[in-house]
Amino acid sequence: KQAKIVVVGSINMDLVVKSEHIPVAGETVTGQEFVMIPGGKGANQAVAAARLGAHVEMVGCVGGDPFGKQMLEQLANEGIGTSYVHTDPQQTTGVALIQVQDGENRITIVPGANASVTPEQVERAKDVFDGADILLVQLEIPQETVMRAVQLAKSYGVKVILNPAPAAVLPDEIWPFVDLVTPNETEAAILSSGQAVVTAHSDVMNELRSLTKTDVIITQGEKGVSYHLDGVAGSYPAYRVNVTDTTAAGDSFNAALAVWHGEGYTMEQSITFAAKVGAITVSRFGAQTSLPTRQEVDSFEGRLNK
Ligand code: RIB
Ligand code: NA
Repeated sequence: KQAKIVVVGSINMDLVVKSEHIPVAGETVTGQEFVMIPGGKGANQAVAAARLGAHVEMVGCVGGDPFGKQMLEQLANEGIGTSYVHTDPQQTTGVALIQVQDGENRITIVPGANASVTPEQVERAKDVFDGADILLVQLEIPQETVMRAVQLAKSYGVKVILNPAPAAVLPDEIWPFVDLVTPNETEAAILSSGQAVVTAHSDVMNELRSLTKTDVIITQGEKGVSYHLDGVAGSYPAYRVNVTDTTAAGDSFNAALAVWHGEGYTMEQSITFAAKVGAITVSRFGAQTSLPTRQEVDSFEGRLNK
């Protein structure tokens, strides 16, 4: 069975600058490389899910600039439904300025049109919620829109995966509409306590569980994941890989969970596939340039880090 997935979220053009040194105020440096790579957490998850074989519909917003047109074409080329990707001529397309030094990223995001993804726009897209398996949503669009999306999904019996990235505190009212929340360690700490202090791991998991009363998967990079699914707690290791660039690893992991779960695997089984997808993504450079196809995942042979 092919998974039917709706993604409500952000669309960015990633402007990546590599330099040996990142300038301080008043300083000018010469960098080594500049590339523009399609990104944005929403679009990355949509593209990842499509390459993994799902039927994907995207709800989002681009600006009236050339990037907007380019991003729309890119989504369509991946076979993603874009009927509900709105173009707001008053806005610029979202951009992420990514400065890379020694393999470490510093990212500045200008949301632009992503801030114009409204609850009304989500309502207009109700057709695509009807009959979908899973809604994937993140936090690079307004919170009121995220709220409307999860409510609409529930009203159509669509399962909701909330990837709470980038880190934010969320209103308690959201949790009854969420089936699975997938923070990384920092996001988990902020969600549960409002602060980015990562205390004992089991404490964070327990706090998140009692706060959300939903299933939880905490992603921990090379340490793998810890989860609490259908009342069962456990963990799963990551694959041993040469890390090139972790950009979009969280996005591809979430998309993979949605695709395999949408095909009928349990969430626990889906983690074993998602771990491979995440591993391939970190082994390559850039956001959408690093997202694997289903075929690449099927032929991936790696060793688990245990
Ligand atoms: O999750 C990775 C994404 O976050 C990048 O593509 C960038 O656009 C930022 O939004
Ligand atoms: Na990558």
